[in-house]
Amino acid sequence: MTDVLRPHAEQEFAAELALLAEHDDRPRPPGWKLSPWAVTAYLLGGELPGGAVVSPKYVGPRRLVEVAVATLATDRALLLLGVPGTAKTWVSEHLAAAISGDSTLLVQGTAGTSEEAVRYGWNYARLLAEGPSAAALVESPLLRAMRRGAVARVEELTRMPGDVQDALITMLSEKTLPVPELNTEVQARPGFTVIATANDRDRGVNELSSALRRRFNTVVLPLPETVEDEVAIVARRVEQLGTALELPAAPAGLAEIRRVVTVFRELRSGHSADGRTTLKVPSGTLSTAEAISVVTGGLALAAHFGDGTLRPSDVAAGIVGAVVQDPSADAVAWQEYLETVVRTRPEWSDFYRACRELA
Ligand SMILES: Nc1ncnc2c1ncn2[C@@H]1O[C@H](COP(=O)(O)OP(=O)(O)OP(=O)(O)O)[C@@H](O)[C@H]1O
Ligand SMILES: [Mg+2]
Repeated sequence: MTDVLRPHAEQEFAAELALLAEHDDRPRPPGWKLSPWAVTAYLLGGELPGGAVVSPKYVGPRRLVEVAVATLATDRALLLLGVPGTAKTWVSEHLAAAISGDSTLLVQGTAGTSEEAVRYGWNYARLLAEGPSAAALVESPLLRAMRRGAVARVEELTRMPGDVQDALITMLSEKTLPVPELNTEVQARPGFTVIATANDRDRGVNELSSALRRRFNTVVLPLPETVEDEVAIVARRVEQLGTALELPAAPAGLAEIRRVVTVFRELRSGHSADGRTTLKVPSGTLSTAEAISVVTGGLALAAHFGDGTLRPSDVAAGIVGAVVQDPSADAVAWQEYLETVVRTRPEWSDFYRACRELA
């Protein structure tokens, strides 16, 4: 393993990708490293003929992944949409890694993203010295993806201003990018496509223009359907992160993970698991991603300041911090939840006490 804090998917799972390529005798779309079947197997995990096991990266409906992969094998681009923390970025990285062997051709969308970041810019020193030339051109990741026939990723597409978004249109429909300054154009090689992500919860973001929307197939990533699914996702990611951060090994603490997940699911749905108590919904996101951070934080507390076992007091502070984002309204919602739900569960009495002690 390379000595970096976070290896790219294609580095971290190089062995699995190689294994899949070896077992993959299905047709590969032009420019693809794997067949659509193998890409799906890489994302969802499973056992290969011969007994080797591929770890699941995404936990969710198989059909959804199949639709996403099939889209990329057509001439349409893929837009992954969903509330925060539903693994949009994660799925996009793994799809790019499996299809092109490279997940790094990435443009991050922000309010300040310029057209140069999407098309190309210039090395001004060279431009002044030599005039416009191919050597003075600074290619965007998208342009490099076109040249290589690879997947380009655009993160948070709708945070980019509308006119910058529209710079994508010719690339996606004509598969060409004119470079008038050099009196030339770049034509995409087979395998070029775009995976964009967008958050459907962000306020104050730009709409996706209808011209662009027509170039994308949209796949909406849902929140995990059941508590079991969500607990499994959190447990797996926490284990991976703990290994990467070299936290002292702690027992998985499945009971605590289940508790964090239950609290978050109840609060974001607005009612208790048995459906009997209606709850105020706090302003924070409380997604799977937040549950992963709360448990990882708790494990660090347990490892460094406790006896190594994840206990209610290790997750309590993280939970309250995630829930109470706005000190007035959220604090009320949390107090109400604590008194009407947490307190009534005898097996949660340690957790109730830990939360009370924080206040
Ligand atoms: N269904 C899932 N399967 C596997 N991992 C998941 C799932 N849902 C969430 N995760 C985990 O949640 C974490 C956060 O996901 P990610 O950053 O991709 O979310 P996002 O949808 O891009 O959020 P944002 O809108 O904030 O950018 C990742 O570590 C991912 O592993
Ligand atoms: Mg994201």
